[in-house]
Amino acid sequence: MEHKILVAYATRTGSTRGVAEKIGATLSGAGAEVEVLPVQAVKDAAPYRAIVVGSPIHGNQWLPEALQFVRLQQAALVSRPFAAFSVCMTLAMRGGEQYRPAVAGSLTPVRALARPVSEGLFAGALLIRRIPSLGDRLKFRLSVLAGVWTEGDHRDWEAIQAWAEGLQPHFALGMAGVK
Ligand SMILES: Cc1cc2nc3c(=O)[nH]c(=O)nc-3n(C[C@H](O)[C@H](O)[C@H](O)COP(=O)(O)O)c2cc1C
Repeated sequence: MEHKILVAYATRTGSTRGVAEKIGATLSGAGAEVEVLPVQAVKDAAPYRAIVVGSPIHGNQWLPEALQFVRLQQAALVSRPFAAFSVCMTLAMRGGEQYRPAVAGSLTPVRALARPVSEGLFAGALLIRRIPSLGDRLKFRLSVLAGVWTEGDHRDWEAIQAWAEGLQPHFALGMAGVK
């Protein structure tokens, strides 16, 4: 497996899985063998030669299982190219780009464990019917009514692809003969 790249993700309503799949497809297109898996499905990241990990932001933080993955796989992450991405609704707000530095703060606990070669920050999707908790569904319906968020899919596929293409030199892809 040591020639493969791992793209691991956490998700609650599926949008981060879509981002992970787009990153995986972009890296595959550059000639890499890629596995895209939920963090819970990866028992050992050591056999992969490069690793991407992503999580949606909930309450300004990564989901617990994504941070747990970074903690458990720290030895693997510090010893090979590792990139991290966050998915959130803040960047989908009108004027949300100004909050990019605050959104980058979601990666502070990750950086403390393993320093990414690259950090991706992406607008996600607000799919209220898919939110597991009734309380959270109500909270988000109210904040949509109040005009804080707009429901729907705000993922910017071009931005996600461009970030994944930027990983290629870090992951030694795109060079003749290197797979
Ligand atoms: C309970 C909950 C809390 C959230 N907290 C934040 C937050 O603090 N900041 C933010 O920008 N987005 C927040 N979001 C929006 C999610 O990050 C966004 O909808 C993301 O695309 C969800 O990813 P998923 O579909 O992979 O679960 C929150 C969403 C939920 C359901």
